[in-house]
Amino acid sequence: MSTNETDTIAEGVASTETAQPPVETPPAENQNRKQPFPRGFLDTISTGWADRPEQLPPARAQAPYAAARRDAVSAAFPGKRLVLPAGTYKQRSNDTDYPFRAHSAFSHLTGWASDSVPDSVLVFEPTGDQGHDVTLYLRERADRTTAEFYDDATIGEFWIGPRPALAGVASDLGLQTAHIDDFDAREGDVILEKDADLTRFVSELRLVKDDYEIAQLRLAVEVTGRGFDDIVSDLDRIVETPRGERAVEGIFHHRARVEGNGEGYDTIAASGPHACYLHWTRNDGAVVPGDLVLVDAGVEVDSLYTADITRTLPVSGTFTDVQRKVYETVREAADAAFAVAKPGVKFRAVHEAAMAVIAQRTAEWGLLPVSAEEALDADRGGQHRRYMVHGTSHHLGLDVHDCAQARREMYYDGILEPGMVFTIEPGLYFQIDDLTVPEEYRGIGVRIEDDVLVTEDGVENLSAAIPRTADEVEAWIARLRS
Ligand code: GLY
Ligand code: MN
Repeated sequence: MSTNETDTIAEGVASTETAQPPVETPPAENQNRKQPFPRGFLDTISTGWADRPEQLPPARAQAPYAAARRDAVSAAFPGKRLVLPAGTYKQRSNDTDYPFRAHSAFSHLTGWASDSVPDSVLVFEPTGDQGHDVTLYLRERADRTTAEFYDDATIGEFWIGPRPALAGVASDLGLQTAHIDDFDAREGDVILEKDADLTRFVSELRLVKDDYEIAQLRLAVEVTGRGFDDIVSDLDRIVETPRGERAVEGIFHHRARVEGNGEGYDTIAASGPHACYLHWTRNDGAVVPGDLVLVDAGVEVDSLYTADITRTLPVSGTFTDVQRKVYETVREAADAAFAVAKPGVKFRAVHEAAMAVIAQRTAEWGLLPVSAEEALDADRGGQHRRYMVHGTSHHLGLDVHDCAQARREMYYDGILEPGMVFTIEPGLYFQIDDLTVPEEYRGIGVRIEDDVLVTEDGVENLSAAIPRTADEVEAWIARLRS
């Protein structure tokens, strides 16, 4: 947080994310607690600093992969000047911003991730031969003769630490760099987020992951697994904490920040009936023995790739009979989805396999007003979806819901290919006040979510090491709970 109440909303490129609600902006010259710099400070602040020898790091591991992605973009847009902004700060309130995170497409095409400098722009300048010269424009660090160095709380080195130099970034990313002040927007620019074709192209470019991305997703899942271990180990303390769901969130956050960049999305820590709210992130409830606690959480590692895992734990260590029945049915649905997932199969077939199990079992339990076959009818059915309203799978990568701008024929109706990474996450949710289910089911919500990689002949469960069956989950709690 800055202590300098000048206007800290950065100028430069517009945010590439959703529009911000109107906010109260302090006057640019708000001086109400600014201390004047006396002459002696101004005369001496630029002097007495050691030289900084230029560090030229070797190209990072992702650099050749990002170069190949840029080649694909260049080939798809001959003759066009393409502009892909990293995005800028988002105001939280007054002079406090949210932590900056680069736009995922910018990161994908530069290899610049948690260390990206806000307001940077990647530009593809068309060349005569239908190719492009690609330049990364960034605000390199100011030298110590400028006022920015000590007097700008948003970007000044005295406040936020040093920013990198152009030559260092060029060497690190294997990219030509230039100062952001040399970037000029031009008529006819094709701008990410504003141009539908470019936005779609770079989203679909992420459908099949390369070896670097797969390694990073493995790492994200591994760290996330340690975060889940932390939660299980601390279940007793979580139960004793009045807002135990917050304790779950905090324990996971610790792991996410210590080993990664943070969480890839807000952690869902949903105990008892809260588990039936699919994106319960308020997390202000108690974690009660006898209930289940559903934890949906993923670590985003420094490269910005994220895991997305859900486990549903019996708080007292063992499932009741009805909890186990619901849990194992969700697992049966997940296993059915795993069984059909392989190259050549439609993405939607994975969902349909899971839903067939959900329809079959809820019909058998007498919950549906129709047969399972009728419920599965594409036009007139869907009665079972009351208990699982969400999809079974989404692509996963730099975004938790990756490739969100891909066309439907490439996504839901698309064909699985080796290198794709997506979730399998069926659930069953019986709301506390749902009169269509027997009382013993009410308030039970279960989701089991794994992250899978499509291989040459099937799928690999990247999160297989995290206990998954009801028996494994009970043994996990027995082993780790202190
Ligand atoms: N992990 C939250 C979701 O997939 O929507
Ligand atoms: Mn998910």
